[in-house]
Amino acid sequence: MKAPVRVAVTGAAGQIGYSLLFRIASGEMLGKDQPVILQLLDLPQAQTAVKGVMMELEDCAFPLLAGMIATDDPNVAFKDAQVALLVGARPRSKGMERKDLLEANGAIFTVQGKALNDHADRNVKVLVVGNPANTNAYIAMKSAPDLDPKNFTAMLRLDHNRALSQLAAKTGTAVSDIEHMLVWGNHSPTMYADYRFATVNGESLKAKINDEAWNRDVFLPTVGKRGAAIIEARGLSSAASAANAAIDHIHDWVLGTNGKWVTMGIPSDGSYGIPEGVMYGFPVVCENGEYTIVQGLEIDEFSRERMNLTLAELEEERAGVAHLL
Ligand code: NAD
Ligand code: LMR
Repeated sequence: MKAPVRVAVTGAAGQIGYSLLFRIASGEMLGKDQPVILQLLDLPQAQTAVKGVMMELEDCAFPLLAGMIATDDPNVAFKDAQVALLVGARPRSKGMERKDLLEANGAIFTVQGKALNDHADRNVKVLVVGNPANTNAYIAMKSAPDLDPKNFTAMLRLDHNRALSQLAAKTGTAVSDIEHMLVWGNHSPTMYADYRFATVNGESLKAKINDEAWNRDVFLPTVGKRGAAIIEARGLSSAASAANAAIDHIHDWVLGTNGKWVTMGIPSDGSYGIPEGVMYGFPVVCENGEYTIVQGLEIDEFSRERMNLTLAELEEERAGVAHLL
């Protein structure tokens, strides 16, 4: 039996938490042979609700659940954590953009970044889900100077998965047949889902679709505004699909992608002209617990324009949180 992995999850009493924790405990995130210890963080007023979720986790009798704790103290929640899912934050409601949450949520990530810095495993893999995810991940990374910045990531996987589904529906193919799709930039309507390099069963997806107007006028707005469409329809922001994307992100980072491209929000190393340190969605492959940016992709004029637009938004968000850093 492998030694258990300590997984910290913040916002454990929230709606994403409720879709996430049972799947982590069942082995869907780290593998069916990997025991886990859940370290659950939420606000003091949510502790009773967290206890309820823990009762349900117990009642599942998951063979891989080797222990769990609940706390309202980030220093306890992140102690020796090897994986940290930073979900806990306010969601937006109808009519808001994600960046409108910066004021309410930004400060959470200075405190949690510092607690990770002081208490987490030195190789902790951090995924920020709480919105605006890229800038919150940037805040956490900057608040943890003793940890490798590469260990801080933001969730673009939901945009990636949304794009895959739209493309599969458009072409009448299976999502699993589509490869080399990617999303650049911010988890916001400015993100740029790019299928120029994508293939379906080895053939060019772009050639198969052959409809640039559909790309610009239907596909990009549909993927970019999907979160708002869900809030409009459900009255609540996406939860099960967000939890699913978080599982996919950590699963692939830890267990590898076998050459498959996935999208992760990561601190730029300067690739593709994106300034170093900006928390930006890039195409990556993962192997041995490390991600590597897919290099050598040609950037045409339209793509550069879209990549710059989403970069400008991230730079504006970063300027807006300078006082927190
Ligand atoms: P929710 O309101 O149902 O739950 C949030 C939970 O976080 C609550 O239990 C709350 O008490 C807790 N919380 C708040 N502040 C906290 C803190 N400082 N420390 C610990 N816990 C804290 O919200 P939700 O639907 O689960 O969404 C959570 C966040 O995820 C939101 O910001 C939402 O916008 C974001 N989100 C991101 C993506 C993405 O793709 N990146 C997708 C969906 C949702
Ligand atoms: C999403 O994309 O569904 C989430 O970021 C929630 C939101 O506010 O749209």
